[in-house]
Amino acid sequence: MIDPSTIERILDSANISDVVSEFVTLKKRGVNQLGLCPFHNEKTPSFTVSPAKGIFKCFGCGKGGNSVNFIMELEQLSYPDALRWLAKKYHIEIDEKEETQEEKLLKDERESMMIVSAFAQRYFSRYLLNENEGRTIGLSYLRERGIRDDIITKFELGFCPEGNDLFTRAAEKQGYKMEFLEKTGLTIKRDDWVRDRFGGRVIFPVHNVAGRVIAFGGRTLTNDKKVAKYLNSPESDIYHKGKTLYGIYQAKRDITRLDKCYLVEGYTDVLSFHQAGIENVVASSGTSLTIDQIRLIRRFSPNITIVYDGDEAGIKASLRGIDMVLEEGINVKVLPLPRGEDPDSFARSMSAGQLTEYIKTKETDFIKFKTQLLMETVENDPVSKARLVNEIVHSISVIPDTITRTIYIKECSRLMDVQEAVLYSEIRKIQNKQSEDHTRKELQELQIQASKPAAPVTEKKISNPFETEEREIIRILLKYYHQVMFNIEDETTHEVKPCTVGAYVLSELHNDGLISVNHRVRNILLTSEENLDNKDFDPIRYFTQHPDSEISQYASNLLAEKYTESKRWSKGGAFIESEGELLNLLVPKLIQEYKLKNVKMMLKKLEHQINEANKNNETEKLMELMGQHMNLKKILKELSELLGFRTVN
Ligand code: CTP
Ligand code: MN
Repeated sequence: MIDPSTIERILDSANISDVVSEFVTLKKRGVNQLGLCPFHNEKTPSFTVSPAKGIFKCFGCGKGGNSVNFIMELEQLSYPDALRWLAKKYHIEIDEKEETQEEKLLKDERESMMIVSAFAQRYFSRYLLNENEGRTIGLSYLRERGIRDDIITKFELGFCPEGNDLFTRAAEKQGYKMEFLEKTGLTIKRDDWVRDRFGGRVIFPVHNVAGRVIAFGGRTLTNDKKVAKYLNSPESDIYHKGKTLYGIYQAKRDITRLDKCYLVEGYTDVLSFHQAGIENVVASSGTSLTIDQIRLIRRFSPNITIVYDGDEAGIKASLRGIDMVLEEGINVKVLPLPRGEDPDSFARSMSAGQLTEYIKTKETDFIKFKTQLLMETVENDPVSKARLVNEIVHSISVIPDTITRTIYIKECSRLMDVQEAVLYSEIRKIQNKQSEDHTRKELQELQIQASKPAAPVTEKKISNPFETEEREIIRILLKYYHQVMFNIEDETTHEVKPCTVGAYVLSELHNDGLISVNHRVRNILLTSEENLDNKDFDPIRYFTQHPDSEISQYASNLLAEKYTESKRWSKGGAFIESEGELLNLLVPKLIQEYKLKNVKMMLKKLEHQINEANKNNETEKLMELMGQHMNLKKILKELSELLGFRTVN
């Protein structure tokens, strides 16, 4: 925790043009400054800095905010880490909250593990480049594979000397403790012997997002089938394989800038893509893709293209990856490779220009990929075709976003020659089933809660069942506060007036008396409402610089969530409407969904109360509750119909 007065000092010192200039060349343009946007790809500058207002804004991609937001976005840091970054730049001491002894020990331990890993990386690199053994064995192997020196440097490749414990002894001599050599897995220790894990292997260091070395992969140079081709660092306090992506540190800038990420399988695939000039690429390192890895990519872009090996295993892995990625609200494409090729061999078999061209023409959306793949086996068999349609519809049904779903349904209908209506009804069946399961689960939880003795109520203890919905509502509210959604006629004066997103959202919530259990959300809604007539009110600036750090963090973090702004692919591969252009469609839907969930919760509570009243023979109370229940049911039905759901009784 950084204390509020320090935050204030950091915000006061962090001059926006000063901070931005570290990364972007700015030219003076009137009272403002202008440069090329670091967040998207552009040739003519549309990135503006206003020193007077202390903010930046890109008119190309729409990103904007204060110095903290700029650092959060560019360096992909959390709010507190961005503050720490700025504090360091301006030599401001940070008064962190006292850590418990346990926290301190764990932190020290992780730090020690990272320090010894950094040493190991430097040692292995130096050994590869400067020592005889490293050069004749390791370096010549890499050169033979056509890996350029600049790539070797960029990825800090290395070589671990052959022989039992040369590295371990060198580390110990430098004062590194056996405890951490062992915990990082660099050294394997048994009762009576000690050995280097990676002896005689070429080393691929694995970096975390911030660029620190947290693990290693070591490739054998022998062709002996009995020897594992790669050895990897074991899981540890600093390395969780399922949460790490190889190359993310070297790729994050370009993933953000190009708003897209290539996903390959192995270390060498990443290297070869970089060598061909494609730098927005990461590898899942041979494991099957995990949710955490997908979410890591989504911090930088909602668009993924899977490039797996052109064999059965690779295709299977692509198919498995697709549904997981879709479910996380990500746009997924697939780049099929010729049989027998992996991204590495394929990229090296042609020029960088040819590779880019191949990607441009061969990249297909997941429906086409799945259809083409499965159609080969279906031929004219109607039963198999039905199964295939079902399979694809299932993939579509997990996509959380309505508009993206609609586009895919159109595409599927065309490709498989099935009417859209049929596909819609299939999807609705799947969704109804899911929503019933979900409601049942929620009800169970509520019953469990009710059976527990009432706990003393404190703000922190309340879990907020509407967290996701509220975050999204607040994000849209702050971002598009002054934007006009549509024109509306005043009931009394008959004057036609524009209705802004702010006015719409706040009056909808206000009229229905919906109140959040989250005090940050309550504060933001109230303040926004008070400022509805204030043309100069800049909610983004106001809340991201709010003196209550919980509020400024909440606002900054949700504004930095890039994936929610997903652009969508149209059939041809071009982007269609962005969220800003679809507000009059999206915002009412968002509010209706929020209300629907509220009504469902209220109904559940009522049903519980009705049962109680019934048990206790409280007739009058029972009648009143039943009346309320009927009203709510009516509202539920109306809302459900507005949202296009079949109501379940
Ligand atoms: N892998 C691993 N352990 C193995 C084999 C593979 O951890 N025994 C991981 C590595 O991250 C590897 C990836 O799976 O990069 C893909 O494996 P593979 O295609 O077999 O290796 P390549 O990356 O093609 O390596 P190379 O080109 O050196 O053969
Ligand atoms: Mn390979």
